[in-house]
Amino acid sequence: MTTLLKVDALSKSYRQQGFWLNRKSTTVLSPISFSVEAHKTLAIIGEAGSGKSTLAKILVGAERPSGGSIYLNDQLLKKGSFKHRCQHVRMIFQDSGTTLNPSLTILQLLDEPLKLNTSFDVNKRKELIRTTLQKVGLLGDHMNFYPHMFSGGQKQRISLARAIILQPQVIILDEALAALDPSLRSQMINLLLDLQQQMGLAYILISHNLGIIRHFSDDIMVLSQGKVVESGKTLEVMNNPQHKVTQKLLMNQNFQLKPNRKTR
Ligand SMILES: Nc1ncnc2c1ncn2[C@@H]1O[C@H](COP(=O)(O)OP(=O)(O)OP(=O)(O)O)[C@@H](O)[C@H]1O
Ligand SMILES: [Mg+2]
Repeated sequence: MTTLLKVDALSKSYRQQGFWLNRKSTTVLSPISFSVEAHKTLAIIGEAGSGKSTLAKILVGAERPSGGSIYLNDQLLKKGSFKHRCQHVRMIFQDSGTTLNPSLTILQLLDEPLKLNTSFDVNKRKELIRTTLQKVGLLGDHMNFYPHMFSGGQKQRISLARAIILQPQVIILDEALAALDPSLRSQMINLLLDLQQQMGLAYILISHNLGIIRHFSDDIMVLSQGKVVESGKTLEVMNNPQHKVTQKLLMNQNFQLKPNRKTR
């Protein structure tokens, strides 16, 4: 198995406002280490404020870590490697469908990352946009539409198209499925699993929905106050949670034990 993403002792503290003598720093992430392989999904769960989104933002390069290192394909990601990271690690947010710029067509929206990160000519970019729309279950001709002409589920697919168009290796889903109703959500999950198979993607799935996590993920990591309190194979951790935080999270959802769809 190939390790795509390796995180080594990543930490984050925020400086609080105030006079410098009184300035305190709050630790949001204590040193965290983990790795994710191609074709695999790592789920991250934890109470509100436990540091999940902060970790996601650091991984995509939207926040700076206070310490630690991130390796992509065994290569250390340096501060200046933003373009490289943009191309290989992408993120989809809960409301990413609603954040699509309403004044741009889908063609223009999907063309942005291509213009910024590739040297493809206009025809090649258009062709790639067409095939990517088809990959996420939309039509090539949808490229001429504006975001308001799509339903919520379709907008989420456009966000997914935008995320995969640069052929990334890692996709981070931060509550990306939370706003979808159950039937759209399961369609989206199946689409994500198909794309994972086709493209060898690694997913980092942040979700409060333990049903989705059980269905979708291979491994799980439980965060509490910025620390990893438990990690392991999803089924093992869910069937036999060791830490009281994990037990509480599972109990809160009155979680029913069902078999996982992935064969392992
Ligand atoms: N820019 C910032 N400055 C100071 N503190 C911050 C900043 N951003 C986040 N935090 C703090 O970091 C902690 C972790 O926040 P984070 O958004 O990562 O939590 P989360 O696990 O994603 O929570 P949720 O489940 O509610 O999405 C919180 O206590 C939050 O207040
Ligand atoms: Mg969050």
